[in-house]
Amino acid sequence: MIQPMEIQRTTMKKEKPDQRQLGFGIHFTDHMFIMDYTLEKGWHQPRIVPYQPLSIDPAAKVFHYGQTIFEGLKAYKTEDGRILLFRPQKNLHRLNISARRLGIPPLDEEAALDALQQLVAADQDWVPSEPGTSLYIRPFVIATQAALGVDPSAHYQFIIIMSPVGSYYPEGINPVRIHVESEYVRAVKGGLGEAKTAGNYASGLKAQVSAKENGYSQVLWLDGVHRTYIEEVGSMNVFFKINGTILTPALNGSILDGITRSSIIQLLKHWGIPVEERKISIEELYEAGGHLEEAFGTGTAAVISPIGELNWNDNKLVIHGGRTGELSARLYDALTGIQNGQLPDPFGWMVQVNHEPSDAAITETTR
Ligand code: COI
Repeated sequence: MIQPMEIQRTTMKKEKPDQRQLGFGIHFTDHMFIMDYTLEKGWHQPRIVPYQPLSIDPAAKVFHYGQTIFEGLKAYKTEDGRILLFRPQKNLHRLNISARRLGIPPLDEEAALDALQQLVAADQDWVPSEPGTSLYIRPFVIATQAALGVDPSAHYQFIIIMSPVGSYYPEGINPVRIHVESEYVRAVKGGLGEAKTAGNYASGLKAQVSAKENGYSQVLWLDGVHRTYIEEVGSMNVFFKINGTILTPALNGSILDGITRSSIIQLLKHWGIPVEERKISIEELYEAGGHLEEAFGTGTAAVISPIGELNWNDNKLVIHGGRTGELSARLYDALTGIQNGQLPDPFGWMVQVNHEPSDAAITETTR
């Protein structure tokens, strides 16, 4: 059920950053969305307020036991001024899948989408229009009960913040060099790997730092049991083109069910290009050698990130001469073209944001 929204609109608008130098997740818009959960009331009091710091008890469970989940999705401005969201229902559905895994009470997905649309509408002049830019939207839930016992929190907050962004990696659509990680793992089957939760990203930081120190942008994650089967790359799903067939690791419980991943699979099938979702060993890639024609990561933040080189235990494998492959570029152009409204949307992926807030009590504040 959609509860009536309260909107506190700020008159103290921030200065907007230069759209050609946005970086990723550095600038935040004028407003944010918050809703509370208690055992007695369930999810209640949805509100849009000026962007501001949170006041949270230091004993809140999120700080101690990591009971938190998040999503990432984007809004785009079209040439004729419309604002489009890319498959937002999928993100909110996945947020609930993560919620169930982390013992967090699920949200009403329809109400969450309405809240998200109203927030984007409130900050619509923050959606950038320069090529390669978008408004990154970060919905998340945190456990706020102040209690140190290890059990699910009785209180939560669902929050949405937004950030105008450029490309995620400084390389943009240029290929990155990847270290194949043989020591640390990101997640294991039965653990949290298929949930979008902070711990999966924290577990990757050490390997990421050491890869960077050695001149690599990111790591290729292998499975936690055999250190053999490929799982993800950095914080993205991963694809390989071998002898004209596209391979991607099958979802196995430790891999995130990426929305860009499933969109790429749908596009490839639509184009009649063979796609296989299955186990892929690191040996298989090295045995393919020159037949490994392209490799790329997929995610909301970077969309498509081509891989130019792998380094596995000091064995280097250069892919497509270290240059962006034709299929990677075609996929990037097709997906971003649909997202920014320059190409037709044959799959009905895009959702247009209504510019006017619906059924909301609006007040103005100078905060
Ligand atoms: C994505 O690309 O979807 C991600 O999850 C990256 C994000 C953690 C910055």
